[in-house]
Amino acid sequence: MDPRLLQILCDPKTHEPLELKGDSLISHSTGQTYPIISSIPVLLPEEELHGDNLEFQRLYDRIAPVYNLSNKIYFFLKFGGEKNYRNQFLKELEIVPGDKVLEISVGTGDNFPYLPRKIDLYGLDISFGMLKACRRNLKKWKREAAIVQAAAEAVPFRDESFDVVYHVGGINFFNDKARAIEEMIRVAKRGSKIVIVDETEKLASTTYNKTPFVRQQIAKKAAELSAPVDYVPETMQDLEINEICNGLLYCLSFRKP
Ligand SMILES: C[S@@+](CC[C@H](N)C(=O)[O-])C[C@H]1O[C@@H](n2cnc3c(N)ncnc32)[C@H](O)[C@@H]1O
Repeated sequence: MDPRLLQILCDPKTHEPLELKGDSLISHSTGQTYPIISSIPVLLPEEELHGDNLEFQRLYDRIAPVYNLSNKIYFFLKFGGEKNYRNQFLKELEIVPGDKVLEISVGTGDNFPYLPRKIDLYGLDISFGMLKACRRNLKKWKREAAIVQAAAEAVPFRDESFDVVYHVGGINFFNDKARAIEEMIRVAKRGSKIVIVDETEKLASTTYNKTPFVRQQIAKKAAELSAPVDYVPETMQDLEINEICNGLLYCLSFRKP
């Protein structure tokens, strides 16, 4: 394991450091053992998974093999290519060389090719299927990133580890949006920008209604979708909410003071 990863990893519940022993990470305070499977640390005890998180983990594990191709086709038809789509929110990140950057819900890593080089990249996701696809993609792109399986509501990184923290495309259906935002803020350094992007009701009601697999799970909840601004503490600075990608996504950003 990359020593830089071990240095900032922690127990997702207690936030205490973990010790590497063979193919596992051990939390001494709780006695919990977290396996490392195919070089991906699994910091998500099965008993912690329930509700929408469990439903979406299963959905993404199932669609992981076709995720990249179907996205590419969709972004080409809708935005003239994936780069045009992703740049509309990635330009908000204010990344500079040497930064430690964390993507919450990294999926198959599709934002990474559009980020500058000479940064330390980290990603977490609840779906092991998506992470395995991410690892394959990283090899293909000749990029390095440390990826871990974990939930956005229990981030296994120590306080104030990252210069930039961002999330794209999952928070609308997280079990606990408030907790996920608290966690993003906890692991961000002071002064860091936090960017959260997800679909608006317009995207869910127009596109998901016609998409196999996701139709049943997402379309029924489309009416509930809006930027989770109420969960951002008042102490955060430079709060902005914008609609991007022709109103199909919202982009919520703020700075940790
Ligand atoms: C639409 S994909 C977005 C992937 C990537 N961010 C992108 O822009 O292509 C949503 C991702 O959120 C992940 N996810 C869903 N619920 C999660 C949770 N509670 N914690 C962490 N990841 C979660 C899914 O497994 C999936 O990979």
